[in-house]
Amino acid sequence: CGIVGYIGKRDVAPLLLEGLQRLEYRGYDSAGIVITGKAAGKPGTLKMVKAKGRVRELEAKVPKRFAGTTGIAHTRWATHGAPSDENAHPHLDAENKVAVVHNGIIDNASELRTRLTADGVVFLSETDTEVLTHLIARAQADTLEEKVREALRHVEGTYGIAVLHADFNDRIVVARNGSPVVLGIGEKEMFVASDVAALVAHTRQVVTLDDGEMATLKADDFRTYTTEGSTTTATPTTVEWEAESYDMGGHDTYMHKEISEQADAVDRVLRGRIDDRFSTVHLGGLNLDAREARGVRRIKILGCGTSYHAGQIGAQLIEELARIPADAEPASEFRYRNPVVDPDTLYVAVSQSGETYDVLAAVQELKRKGARVLGVVNVVGSAIAREADGGTYVHAGPEVCVVSTKCFTNTVVAFALLALHLGRIRDLSVADGKRIIDGLRRLPEQISEILAGEDEIKRLAAEYADAKSMMFIGRVRGYPVAREASLKLKEVSYIHAEAYPASELKHGPLALIEPAMPTVAIVPDDDLLEKNRAAMEEIKARSGRILAVAHQVQEKADHTIVVPKNENELDPILMGIPLQLFAYHTALAMGRDIDKPRNLAKSVTVE
Ligand code: G6P
Repeated sequence: CGIVGYIGKRDVAPLLLEGLQRLEYRGYDSAGIVITGKAAGKPGTLKMVKAKGRVRELEAKVPKRFAGTTGIAHTRWATHGAPSDENAHPHLDAENKVAVVHNGIIDNASELRTRLTADGVVFLSETDTEVLTHLIARAQADTLEEKVREALRHVEGTYGIAVLHADFNDRIVVARNGSPVVLGIGEKEMFVASDVAALVAHTRQVVTLDDGEMATLKADDFRTYTTEGSTTTATPTTVEWEAESYDMGGHDTYMHKEISEQADAVDRVLRGRIDDRFSTVHLGGLNLDAREARGVRRIKILGCGTSYHAGQIGAQLIEELARIPADAEPASEFRYRNPVVDPDTLYVAVSQSGETYDVLAAVQELKRKGARVLGVVNVVGSAIAREADGGTYVHAGPEVCVVSTKCFTNTVVAFALLALHLGRIRDLSVADGKRIIDGLRRLPEQISEILAGEDEIKRLAAEYADAKSMMFIGRVRGYPVAREASLKLKEVSYIHAEAYPASELKHGPLALIEPAMPTVAIVPDDDLLEKNRAAMEEIKARSGRILAVAHQVQEKADHTIVVPKNENELDPILMGIPLQLFAYHTALAMGRDIDKPRNLAKSVTVE
């Protein structure tokens, strides 16, 4: 979900609607806006519009005369209650005095709802947020800050909230616990949002609230304090991402833009980190000295979705280059199986957004048990980056499309750097270090080469678009590539796809092979080439169609996408890229909503 708020001198509705557009990738089943201030009508009134559907639906409903200079708005991703006008945020109390927008989940909402209903409160929605609205409206305290604080004392769960009160219309009060809240500091105007994306067009001076922190925003002033009331110091920092990097830049979709940016993105993650003199890399933020790194006996990587797949490739890179046993696991599963937390294991949390709740909760659980956790994260200053003991940013730039592409690639490259770094302080030779560095340096150009083949990939996508279901296979280095490619196709095209190790085909999935079930085979030129060819032969013998991604044309395949060869260890970084385009063009041909696939959201900040 996304929150945006503004207080200042400008006409607030267009500003908030634009902010919502920029946040729409975080949730898009309904949206709403509420404004106050003298110009909104008599002091002491709020004006609100809500709409099911996209932000443009809301925009169409906002009346011409909707003037005001203070307001908050929200784009929703349903958790409690189905998408509808009523369940959209903001939520108002019975007297239309208090408006609340909220990200997160109030765990004790139903208990509070029962209590409030018994007291005569009539609920208009099924949301957990409305509970908060009534609690604030009924609070006895004199100031808005104290009312909010009093309400929050009753609440268990996670929240990022912004509150507007008709009787205190010179301010917006915000609070954070587990769901991001960022203040944007302007010239005689202040912004608040759940994501810098909504702010950077107006100011790049931001303050990120900590859990347990609140803030009061007035047009020319802001202050931060804890939910207990003691003042905190907040020094604004400058956001490095430019507003333009959130624009579509001439592409029809963000997915296409982000796929196309990968050569530059990889260049960015490498920049300034390679040390040719010692054939190694510097990763400034790891907070892990050489002695500590040598003591690491195991590495456990945790992430969700695409980041989990990037972690699987990362684990292989670490095993290959640093010879440390490593594996990846979905963070969501890990934290619920009471894992053995071993002091000699280094834990690595992977997340594009740095906000995914399951990953954050796994990190918190690990830290509670005394583990050392590194973050491999894209969004600077995000919750996971802050919670981790150290780590590295992947510098992919903002990723807006719900499905992850450039961030996946950059995350894998960041893992290659980490693996190289660990390898060089353990037993990776100078020569191997140099070999990998040379390979890394070739990546941007090789990515450009792959992207230049887009027309051919588009043609192939059309060829396979009739499939109801597709199989993706690979072995060892190719297997996580197959998994990620299969996920990408599912997410954007809604074609069923599954990934299998090529070696496991004969143990079951071969039963599915027939002409209507094509296979995408990842076939690198490495020591498993012959084994992969044998798997393709098995498929051909059952009249299956095959699209291979390989370093040379595969005779057994019906079609081959040939990708440039790099060092064996780095091949997985490149082999998935044509399949991002394959998923994209398949979805495009099917008329899918590519940047916002049904039922999915970019950041899942709830469990
Ligand atoms: C959501 C997104 C996925 C993403 C996953 C993890 O499910 O739809 O595309 O891979 O979250 O997100 P993260 O920000 O932690 O990488």
